[in-house]
Parts: sequence; C-alpha cells; structure tokens
Amino acid sequence: MANVKLAVIYYSSTGTNYQMAKWAEDAAKQEGAEVKLVKVAETAPMSAIEQNPAWKKHYEETKDVQEATVDDLDWADAYIFSVPTRFGNVPSQFKQLMDMAGGLWFQGKLVNKVASAMTSAQNPHGGQEATLLNLYTSMFHWGVLVAAPGYTNDAAFTAGGNPYGTSVSVDGEGNMKEDVEEAVRNQAIRTINVAEMIVKGQQ
Ligand SMILES: Cc1cc2nc3c(=O)[nH]c(=O)nc-3n(C[C@H](O)[C@H](O)[C@H](O)COP(=O)(O)O)c2cc1C
Repeated sequence: MANVKLAVIYYSSTGTNYQMAKWAEDAAKQEGAEVKLVKVAETAPMSAIEQNPAWKKHYEETKDVQEATVDDLDWADAYIFSVPTRFGNVPSQFKQLMDMAGGLWFQGKLVNKVASAMTSAQNPHGGQEATLLNLYTSMFHWGVLVAAPGYTNDAAFTAGGNPYGTSVSVDGEGNMKEDVEEAVRNQAIRTINVAEMIVKGQQ
C-alpha cells in the first residue's frame, strides 16, 4: 500500500484530460495513496469559452472541481499532470500555475517530488511527445524526479507506446481514439510507487 500524497493536476477544455485525470485518481486511491484531484484555473475569457459549445459544456460541468494552487504542489509527494497540447506545448492555463511556483522553487520545496505527465492532441502525432518533454523541462528546473512510464507495462503498447507519458488523440467529437485507460492506471501506480521509495528513503 503506497503511503504517499498525490496531487492529480489537470487542465482540460473539452473533457479528455479530465477523464484521464479521473482514471489516475481512481487507480492511485485504490493503491492506497492520499489523492487530491484539482483543476488548473481557467484563464481564457468567457467570450472565447462561449464560442465553443464543447468547451462551455465542460467548463460548466466541472465548476465544482477544486482549483489547483501552489499549496497543492507543496502538500503532495507526487504529481500527475494531465494537459492537452497547445501547438506542442503546455496550455497557458497550466503555465500560469507553474509560474506561480517561484516561491516554492526558491525555498527548495519542490526538490525530490516525483512527477509524471499525460497529454492529448487532435492528431496521433500532433505534439504529444513534445508537450510532455516541454513540461518535463520545467520539472528538471524544479528538482522534481520524473517517473515517466517508459515501457514498464504492456498497457503502454495498446495505448500507442508513448514512453514519456500516456497520451491519446481525439476525434472531431472529442472521443479518444486509442484505449488508454489501462496505461493511465499503470502510470498512476508507477508514479506513486516511485514516490513511496523516495518518501521512505528520506525518513
Ligand atoms: C490553441 C490550440 C492549439 C492546439 N494545438 C494542437 C496541435 O498542435 N496539434 C494537435 O493535434 N491538436 C492541437 N490542439 C487540439 C487539442 O490538443 C485537443 O483539443 C485537446 O487535446 C483535447 O483535450 P481536452 O479535451 O482535455 O481539452 C490544439 C487546440 C487548441 C485550442
């Protein structure tokens, strides 16, 4: 039983990364971790959200999900991030949270946290790997230990075989094109298992 605190932090406009985050939350809870699922605050203007019915719908449906703060980054031993690609990079909404972490970073409070990330794009090769690598670059600056899934579990292969983190592509209606649930669950378990080794090693 993993004795770690996990923050599952996601951003999602149309629900894909929310679903992936929920799978990760569920798997980590089943493994015995203390889990917080939090969404990154929406920073886009309402005028933009209202122009996209799927975005508006998801925005309304997830109004009650708690928003992520830097206190969550401080609290957790491990992070799972799930964010859609924006031209091969992380969404600005997520970047805003990272940019608020300067104080924690300065105090060394992010050092030896464990993280892994997941992502989605419209196309099978629409920037998933680049998005994860760009996110991980900031983790290296934070002193966070990246516990990417690699090929540690066969579920990665049916999910498209991305060793950097579980990733998926979505069709025009927002449906996931690959079956990634098992890969997400395995990634969550691996992340908290690695975090447990780090936590125990520091006791
Ligand atoms: C500003 C913007 C940029 C995007 N850039 C890409 C891209 O470069 N390649 C791609 O395949 N999909 C791109 N997408 C599609 C999103 O990645 C896709 O809608 C998202 O993964 C769905 O996740 P969500 O349902 O959690 O919001 C972009 C979407 C937006 C709004």
